[in-house]
Order: sequence, then C-alpha cells, then structure tokens
Amino acid sequence: MEYLPLDSVRLSEDESAVVIIDQTLLPERLEYKILQTAEQIYDAIKRLCVRGAPAIGICAGYAMYVLARQITAGGYEFYSELEKYGEYLCSSRPTAVNLGAAVNKMLCAAKAAANKPKSEIIDILRRTAIKIHEDDIQMCRAISEYGLTLVKDGDGILTHCNAGPLATSRYGTGLGALILGSERGYTFRAYCDETRPLLQGARLTAFELKNAGVDVTLICDNMASLVMKQGLINAVFVGCDRVAANGDTANKIGTSGAAILARHYNIPFYVFCPSSTVDFDCKSGADIPIEYRDPEEIRSMFFAKPQAPEVKCLNPAFDVTDAELITAIVTEKGICCPPYDSSLREVLGK
Ligand code: MRU
Repeated sequence: MEYLPLDSVRLSEDESAVVIIDQTLLPERLEYKILQTAEQIYDAIKRLCVRGAPAIGICAGYAMYVLARQITAGGYEFYSELEKYGEYLCSSRPTAVNLGAAVNKMLCAAKAAANKPKSEIIDILRRTAIKIHEDDIQMCRAISEYGLTLVKDGDGILTHCNAGPLATSRYGTGLGALILGSERGYTFRAYCDETRPLLQGARLTAFELKNAGVDVTLICDNMASLVMKQGLINAVFVGCDRVAANGDTANKIGTSGAAILARHYNIPFYVFCPSSTVDFDCKSGADIPIEYRDPEEIRSMFFAKPQAPEVKCLNPAFDVTDAELITAIVTEKGICCPPYDSSLREVLGK
C-alpha cells in the first residue's frame, strides 16, 4: 500500500483560500477545512488543525498569498498590510522556524517586486508560495532516501510525535524512510510513542504508518525504555521544529527523554531535518523559543471527564535535545555528523 496520497495543505481551486486536512479530527474523521481570513488561519495553526513544522510553513506561504489578494490598497500600504498579516500569523506558534521563515520569504518576494504593478506582485507571491510547497515535496523524497540508508530490513524504529506526510507534504521526514521502505518491500517494525498530551503519535503517526502498510505498535511514552531494553529498537527517528547552529534540536516535548534513553541503551538517535528548519541565527538551543500551551490539554482534553483535580499543570509543547545526544542530523542535502556547528554549514552550503 502507498503512503497517504493526500495534501495536508493546498490552495483552493479558485485560489481564494487555503485548504487543510483538519488534523484535530484524525483518525476518526478525514475532513478538510477552508481558511480564508487571517483569523481562521491563525486559529487553525494555534489549535494544531494544521501542524508539523514544514506543513505550517507551506500553510503560511499560501496564507500570505490568499491574504495579499484581499488587500485593496496599493503601493507601500499594500506591503505594510501584508507585513501586519505576517506578524499576526507568526504570533500563533513560536517554536517552528518554518512559520517565520515562510512569512519572511513571502515578504522579501513582495519587497523585491515593490516597483512592479500590484497584479504582478500578487503573481510573484503565488509562485513563491507554490515553490515553498514544491521544495518541500522534493525535500521529503530526498530525506527519505537518506533515511533508508541508515536502517536495514526488519529493523525496529521508535518514533516520537508525528513527522509524516500530514506534517509535511509527501512521505514526511522522520517517517519518510519507513513509508518509502514499505513501498520497496522492507518490513520495518515501528514503535510509536503516543506523544502526550496531544497524542500526535497515536492519532497521526499510527494512522499514517498503518495506511502505508508498515507494521506499527503503539506504546505510551513511558514504555520507550522497556522496548529499548528488550532489544526491540534499532534506531530512533524524530522530526524537528528548529535546529540551532550547534545542532541542539527543538522537537515535541519528550523527544529529549527519548534521546537520553537511546544514549543509555546505545541506540542511534537520528533527527530528520529539512534545511528550512535549521536556524543559524540561534547559536544554541537556549535561543529557541519554547511554546507553552493550555494546561487543560493535560488535565482534560481527550478524556470524557477531567483525569486530575484542579491543580497547576505545566504544558511546554517542545523540548530541546542536546546536540551531543544526536547520532546524526539527516537533511535533504546529506547526512550531518558531529560536530554539527561545522557539518550543518558544510552540508547545507552556508
Ligand atoms: O505541536 P506539533 O504537533 O506541531 O509538533 C510537531 C513536531 O514536534 C514534529 O515532530 C515536527 O514539527 C517535525 S514535522 C516534520
């Protein structure tokens, strides 16, 4: 069976809206959401209807195009309104660098064309947004091919959160090798962390891998150490939301714990990282902003009734895995090995 052949984000036929798969409804229902206003797009990103660093970037690119078409002003006022839309969208989620990077790319394209007629600027924005999407499709394919060189048929692979087609365009990053491998007849055993509190592993990764015909076993996050100790895991594959210049990696909360366990059991820990997710402006993980979310996601969300008394809950959505725990960072341009401050720049040509 092939990977889920659906676009998690696309432009509507008449180009007046961004169309996304509403990931909050999966795996129960596959429904699309049509986003036309800045508020609808902000809300969809904030509530994780669209999520995963590359998918948020693709969404932001199309969003800026859709919103640009709605601006009636011309000249400098056009740019200034577009810039305000960009700032607003960027304030929805702080950690994934792809959001700000895509908005920035769109604004730079508009700025560079400032002396052209408005219709031409809009057309340039359209092409820039499509390019962000197309680049992501190429990236996923390349990263998946590199990933496949790191494992062998029959291997057990632990995943955390979701870095599959839903979080990107096609194949995904962290799940790409598993899905591509499955198409080529490999029989991997995937163990996916359910990924508390929003269950991206249970709801999305298990769904995507099952769809792709991969042998998948769902575990609670706190079971990872046991399956590692039992010798069931040959490698850990995770995605990322922002990688600092020194290789420190922000990804879904719990990722750094999986990396510490992998080090203890001598299991390679791989980060799958599109070049668009590396932020050379962040020297180390300490510079990466971490999103804190509504405590109710821990206490009551997904439960028929609250599972804890009214106490304080701490709900950081991401953590930073120290570079020293990462065996390699897999990009679409090649595999980076430690020390990352030199290998990331060499491989990505920066
Ligand atoms: O809060 P989320 O679901 O957007 O977090 C996403 C992740 O942590 C993914 O692992 C990351 O964005 C990589 S997606 C290819």
